[in-house]
Amino acid sequence: MKDFIAGLPKCELHLHIEGTLEPELKFELAQRNGIALPYATVEEMRAAYAFDDLPSFLGVYYEGMRVLRTEPDFYDLAMAYLRKAASQNVRYAEIFFDPQAHTSRGVPFDVVIRGLRRALMDAHTQLGVRAQLIMCFLRDFQAEYAMATLLESLPYKEWIVGVGLDSDEKGNPPAKFAAVYERARQEGYLLTMHCDVDQENSVEHIRQCIEDIQVNRIDHGVNILEDPALVQQILDKGIGLTCCPISNSYVTDSMKAEGIRKLLDLGVRVTINSDDPAYFPGYVQENLEALELSREELLQVQRNAFEITWLPRHLKDAYLAELE
Ligand code: HPA
Ligand code: ZN
Repeated sequence: MKDFIAGLPKCELHLHIEGTLEPELKFELAQRNGIALPYATVEEMRAAYAFDDLPSFLGVYYEGMRVLRTEPDFYDLAMAYLRKAASQNVRYAEIFFDPQAHTSRGVPFDVVIRGLRRALMDAHTQLGVRAQLIMCFLRDFQAEYAMATLLESLPYKEWIVGVGLDSDEKGNPPAKFAAVYERARQEGYLLTMHCDVDQENSVEHIRQCIEDIQVNRIDHGVNILEDPALVQQILDKGIGLTCCPISNSYVTDSMKAEGIRKLLDLGVRVTINSDDPAYFPGYVQENLEALELSREELLQVQRNAFEITWLPRHLKDAYLAELE
């Protein structure tokens, strides 16, 4: 099955680029930028990755990205991920980035996006991997800061396919960002949001995403199973879910494999992704292996993935044809 998965043309739709910062590159960037790290070795660094829920993970994640400062740092980060993706036969990736995690510590927006964009261009020509960027707002910051970030992104609109919402969900419902999302829609961005697994008010957050914000898809969203009427709505609307089993196993009690399989059986456009693979060890290949799906289910997951990409129809069809 490993070889079958390896051979499948794959798609990655839920990947935080800052969450691909592997310890080796973190050390290299720290040295490049003269930043002291509180660990002497890769093993010590990994040992400090002690998290068991979303907030404790986020603490480690934001601390880690302090080493990212210059345009070449962001280029190297994205290029390292895209090389890994190419090695796993990922044909297309939609990549989240968190501009506020950088602007809030003095790194300019244009430094971040120019580095990432240059890597995406080079990866396409040099590795044959296509990718697009999704700009995420940090939901634990004020909505006004998200709006300011949205406005700051407008000169780079052609480089960003859509917007997302991540970081700490507790007390930060989708509704908090209704005006930001309305403006993003008007600007032509496609819309997604995290509804992390097993959060306080998960189902209500999913409802707000679908009915009030009218997102194009949902990141995670497995708790939708608790409300069959909402499941019916996403079936009717064709809204896809970007699930991340290994990530789930680090921030909740399990991979939620049963729920993911149930959603797949119900015909929901479930996809399998890696979230933050430097922290939740496993890229797309390992996440697909972890679920122990049948060949037909694996094919369906990849069909779902290419179908819910934010690509033009002719490109979706070209990738879908590779699966046949
Ligand atoms: N959930 C919320 N915020 C995040 C995540 C996640 O899985 N990864 C990076 N930021
Ligand atoms: Zn995520």
